[in-house]
Amino acid sequence: MTRAFVTGWPITHSKSPVLHGFWLNKYGIKGTYEALGIEPENFVQFLDDLPKSGFAGGNVTIPHKEVAFDTIPDRDEAAEMIGAVNTLWLEGGKLKGGNTDAYGFSANLDDYAPQWRQGKIATVMGAGGASRAIIYALLNAGFTDVRIANRTVRRAQSLADRFGEACSAHPWSAIEELTQDTDFLVNTSSVGMAGTEDTPIPDLRNLAAEALVTDIVYTPLETPILKAANDQGLTTVDGLGMLLHQAVPGFEKWFGIRPEVTDDLRNTILGA
Ligand code: ATR
Repeated sequence: MTRAFVTGWPITHSKSPVLHGFWLNKYGIKGTYEALGIEPENFVQFLDDLPKSGFAGGNVTIPHKEVAFDTIPDRDEAAEMIGAVNTLWLEGGKLKGGNTDAYGFSANLDDYAPQWRQGKIATVMGAGGASRAIIYALLNAGFTDVRIANRTVRRAQSLADRFGEACSAHPWSAIEELTQDTDFLVNTSSVGMAGTEDTPIPDLRNLAAEALVTDIVYTPLETPILKAANDQGLTTVDGLGMLLHQAVPGFEKWFGIRPEVTDDLRNTILGA
């Protein structure tokens, strides 16, 4: 029987066990996907013990993604660029680390708005940990002008430095102006969520009618930014599909079947 896991601290809110459990059941695989709460002080030991633990691999979530990156020398290109590891697997008994967030982001858009790949200019709201996978995905999809807007401009600047000359850093207040010629607006910040009332969501009226808007937050499905965009008649994609798609490469590595992201799965997660 093949065993996989998700580890974080705390781990109670993770939807991954339901997601992978859905696929294990659907494909009739004799396997498990377990939620393991590992306290930060025990996490490196957990990684050291993994090759002999009986697990085929697993997912890593908050707050362990950066420590996993620092601890595992054998990483895929996405993890390297993003600076965080969210997927672990064994190859010839050796632990490998990857990052599937950029893949999940892109595959969700390919599903719902495949024209996103024609865009050249993107504005990314937020410069936290989550924005790195998005910037990496945008550059891979061929965007040539990625504008990172953040309350703390210094954080946006350090990301622009990291990802190269196609990227530029801007203050949050510049978003309305930046959207005048933006093809694709992505929110990776927590603005719009409870506790961010000090920062109103930007006015989106400058966006062109063909512009696309997405948010990586999926609770609620229609975030305040997506609602503003929908009210304006713009095309929007919610963030739930990113969660579903980022799980695909790991499941395939551990259990040997590339699982499908379907409406059934989406509805199961929404109901969970
Ligand atoms: P994550 O890893 O999920 O991206 P994070 O690193 O805490 O989380 O980043 C959260 C993002 O939301 C950051 O871009 C943050 O802006 P700062 O870098 O200026 O902190 C942004 N954010 C959070 N609360 C905000 C607020 N009240 N107003 C503006 N931006 C906010």
